Amino acid sequence: MTLLRSVNRLGLKAMHCLEPEAAHNLTIKMLATGVGLWPKPVQDPRLSYQLADLTFKSPLGMAAGFDKNGEVPIPLMKMGFGHVEVGTVTPLPQPGNPRPRNFRLTADKAVINRYGFNNEGHGALKARLAKLPRQRPGILGVNIGANKTSEDRAADYVQGIEAFASAADYFTANISSPNTPGLRDLQAKDALTDLLSRTMAARDAQTAKVGRQVPVLLKIAPDADEALLADIAEVALAQKVDGLIISNTTISRPPLKDSAQASEAGGLSGAPLFRLSTIALAKMRRLVGPDLPIVGVGGIHSGETAWAKICAGANLLQLYSAMVYEGPDLVADINAYLLQKVQEEGLSSLQQAVGSNAEAWASEPLS
Ligand SMILES: Cc1cc2nc3c(=O)[nH]c(=O)nc-3n(C[C@H](O)[C@H](O)[C@H](O)COP(=O)(O)O)c2cc1C
Repeated sequence: MTLLRSVNRLGLKAMHCLEPEAAHNLTIKMLATGVGLWPKPVQDPRLSYQLADLTFKSPLGMAAGFDKNGEVPIPLMKMGFGHVEVGTVTPLPQPGNPRPRNFRLTADKAVINRYGFNNEGHGALKARLAKLPRQRPGILGVNIGANKTSEDRAADYVQGIEAFASAADYFTANISSPNTPGLRDLQAKDALTDLLSRTMAARDAQTAKVGRQVPVLLKIAPDADEALLADIAEVALAQKVDGLIISNTTISRPPLKDSAQASEAGGLSGAPLFRLSTIALAKMRRLVGPDLPIVGVGGIHSGETAWAKICAGANLLQLYSAMVYEGPDLVADINAYLLQKVQEEGLSSLQQAVGSNAEAWASEPLS
């Protein structure tokens, strides 16, 4: 083990002595002040991906929720993440649920959270993003959501598009967090049609103003059954979303070693989510066909799991929970592994592997 890895292991151990939310806040502070060491990012044209006018230099991104208020996108990009999704941001600031609301299930390499969209709101994020350089080392996504007390939730997504059309490289409409009561109801066919038609119209209205069509991705839950997945696919294609993100955290509880924490309410993420989210991804790939971009997220914690998501049908990847257990070395490790697989399999690019094992994953049951 190199000295750098040993130092990072010790850093992680120290972080795990703190309460999870305190550890997270400290991590953000450290990154914001330039503290942190990691291996040189692995970049290679064979790992890059083009989504509309955006070139993702690395397939792996930081998932939403890590940098809710857009404090550290540039340090995360320098760490080797090809994209960073800030948010979820809601129009008005809101405190979220009472603490504690973030739990480590160390034996499972998992996290349960019930934050409930705590964030500083559109105004604060807008001000912060305005200070970022125009030339950035990675792609910046803005993940938009609705306030807990909003009476017209679709209107909150429209406001999100209007607020960030000039700052965001792409948008994610997050309708899948389990911690805002009723939010996931937006996945039902009629509600989703209303939400997406208004969101895409708002995006189109901004296109002339900002001089480009900002892609809009839809982030869904892994807890859908086959019928709901089919409905989401149909509406997403009809409304011409630019891609899907699969998936958010799960409200289900696969067998877990840490039975005390397992009963905490909230969304489960990390290694135990890998199987369910990958099956949902592959089923969705089968439903939407090969052309719609899909970002695979849920339980990626190694080069092997990253490669499996690609083969199940993902064009791009994201992770969050594995950072808690593996630290920043993981980013270079995953990219190095993916590059090695591209070479071993004799491919000219990672994208040639997308969906190569989708049928096997898609035939698995969702429960
Ligand atoms: C503490 C925590 C907070 C999260 N907050 C958000 C959020 O605000 N918006 C969102 O779309 N997803 C959020 N997520 C979900 C992640 O973006 C991701 O979809 C999920 O954790 C699965 O990936 P993972 O297993 O790599 O963590 C959060 C996840 C965690 C662990």
